[in-house]
Amino acid sequence: MRSFILLGAVLPFAQAIRIIQANDDGWAEANARTLFNSLSAAGHDIVLSAPAENQSGTGSSDAAPKQVDADGCEFSSCPGGSPPTGANSSDPRLNYVNSFPVTSMKNGIDVTGPNLWNGAKPELAVSGPNVGSNVGPTGLISGTVGAASYAAHTAKIPAIAFSGRSGDPTAWDAPTPLHSKVYADLALNLTTTLINSGAPYLPDDVFLNVNFAAVSDSSCNDASQFKFIFTRVNTGLLSAPDTEWCGSTRLPWEVDVIYLRGGCHVSVSAGDANDKSTTEAAKQKVVSDKLKSLLTCL
Ligand SMILES: *[C@@H]1O[C@H](CO)[C@@H](O)[C@H](O)[C@H]1NC(C)=O
Ligand SMILES: *[C@@H]1O[C@H](CO)[C@@H](O)[C@H](O)[C@H]1NC(C)=O
Ligand SMILES: *[C@@H]1O[C@H](CO)[C@@H](O)[C@H](O)[C@H]1NC(C)=O
Repeated sequence: MRSFILLGAVLPFAQAIRIIQANDDGWAEANARTLFNSLSAAGHDIVLSAPAENQSGTGSSDAAPKQVDADGCEFSSCPGGSPPTGANSSDPRLNYVNSFPVTSMKNGIDVTGPNLWNGAKPELAVSGPNVGSNVGPTGLISGTVGAASYAAHTAKIPAIAFSGRSGDPTAWDAPTPLHSKVYADLALNLTTTLINSGAPYLPDDVFLNVNFAAVSDSSCNDASQFKFIFTRVNTGLLSAPDTEWCGSTRLPWEVDVIYLRGGCHVSVSAGDANDKSTTEAAKQKVVSDKLKSLLTCL
């Protein structure tokens, strides 16, 4: 009993907030559903609004949702000929939008979320976890990053894009793969830390581009093995100095941390939601101050 009380004192529950979630692999993909379940179990008011089909690699495309084709939603998660948008019949918080990731995020922020929250908007937007990394230039074509940068730039909702290097697309009703569980645990940790840092959660026009290294049965198979590293989106060869961090004014490159170095790492870059590049030093500093309890040096 005593240890339970102590644990409660060390890890206070985050304040419960309204969160909108999108992705680009589709509303029925296991990574997104696993994080949805974790954020919901942590007490948050979360609503999923994500594409009916796989929309991987569709960047910032946006178009009015259309009736679902004869094949139905991905993984047979809705029947052929379903309406352009729809919800799970037993859980109205699970929604598909038969269009792009940005359109799904927009519909969630403007319509589905407020319908379930007495007219209120979300306080935070999360996207993913994407099946596959979105590091460096890949972010420019990623629908997962597109949805997060739309939320932060256009809708002015603080946003986080999560992507995990390991795993294949998996249906929501298949056994939950190990990588989905580890990535959801890591995403919950970062989200909780950010929420506990207080509003405003992020500087204006900033989104976080967060990538998780590979997970396997024998290595990096538990969230506790991972280190969170503050990074930048592009190499920064010709860029102005970054905020001073770990004794340097040049942050590590997220591609280096996730692909080249090896190890159980999470890269956390403060992205400019206007062009998906690295944001300026002053805004990086706000982010590193908020996340400093989580971040370590390489
Ligand atoms: C709909 O929600 C129910 C209850 O949460 C769940 O059992 C079912 O698998 C869901 N179906 C889809 C397609 O999301
Ligand atoms: C989506 O399509 C991409 C390539 O276009 C593929 O790599 C990925 O595995 C697909 N994802 C799903 C959920 O089918
Ligand atoms: C979050 O991650 C950090 C760094 O790995 C770890 O020390 C901490 O225990 C984790 N917190 C939770 C609640 O998982």
